[in-house]
Amino acid sequence: MTGTHSQDGEQAGGGRYGKDLFEPEHPHEAERIDAAALVYDPVTTRRLKALGAGPGRRCLEVGAGTGTVARWLLEEAGVDEVVALDRDTGPLAGLAGPRLRVVEADLTDESLRPGGFDLVHARFVLMHLPERRRLISRLAGWLNPGGWLVLGDAVELPDVLDTSSAYRRTMDAMWQALRATIGTDTSSVPAYPHFLREEGLRNVAADLFCPPLVAGGPLARFWSETWSRMQPALEATGRVDAGVVEEALAYLASPRLAELGPGMAMTWGQRR
Ligand SMILES: C[S@@+](CC[C@H](N)C(=O)[O-])C[C@H]1O[C@@H](n2cnc3c(N)ncnc32)[C@H](O)[C@@H]1O
Repeated sequence: MTGTHSQDGEQAGGGRYGKDLFEPEHPHEAERIDAAALVYDPVTTRRLKALGAGPGRRCLEVGAGTGTVARWLLEEAGVDEVVALDRDTGPLAGLAGPRLRVVEADLTDESLRPGGFDLVHARFVLMHLPERRRLISRLAGWLNPGGWLVLGDAVELPDVLDTSSAYRRTMDAMWQALRATIGTDTSSVPAYPHFLREEGLRNVAADLFCPPLVAGGPLARFWSETWSRMQPALEATGRVDAGVVEEALAYLASPRLAELGPGMAMTWGQRR
């Protein structure tokens, strides 16, 4: 990552996703999640299809959010059953049905035993949970023989030539603030293939997708909403003040916007 969020020795805060940041009851939270889902769903679903998501499969969608991937698994891929798990299932309420079970649970609850699955998918979830390495072991343990574990999390390519733009400073402040408040950390995302191999999975591979960041597009809206919501925490890092954040927000909405934004690394592996 470009930021110092994982190199500055700062300890992750004790807060939790959905409680201390990104509260589900916020009026724009579902909209914020959907803005990113819109961009990443085609990439995610293409990979899940290539890994055999289809009839005869039982799937676990971890941190299902607004349920776009769970719905795709059910309606487009035609899998037999989807379990959509989230600590907040409000946005999933209308999705439940005979082949889609909605489970409200905290993934970090050690007593959780959702059963065995042919596909376990978690996107933009583990990066927000400090227990991510242990959770990867548990998710791998929920695979049926031949089943796939698929993890998508954020990565950002460094731009060493830019240390001072309002965009850069705000983005770096965001990673630092996320880490300080809820323990978000993307520094181990490139190591996920090694983690999956350590879990005994085979056919492990990974790829990276950095979607275009275009003014007025869904991702610009996602970052804009995220930064606006986090403004006090951004300023608390000491990296930015209100003026810098305002400048960064205006840049995101302007035709001058020209950045290789953060992307998603997807890693997958199969149980023997
Ligand atoms: C950034 S959103 C991603 C949503 C969805 N996976 C997507 O990509 O559109 C993270 C999701 O993980 C859920 N989540 C966060 N911590 C969780 C936990 N400890 N247990 C279960 N779900 C959790 C949140 O409620 C939220 O729906």
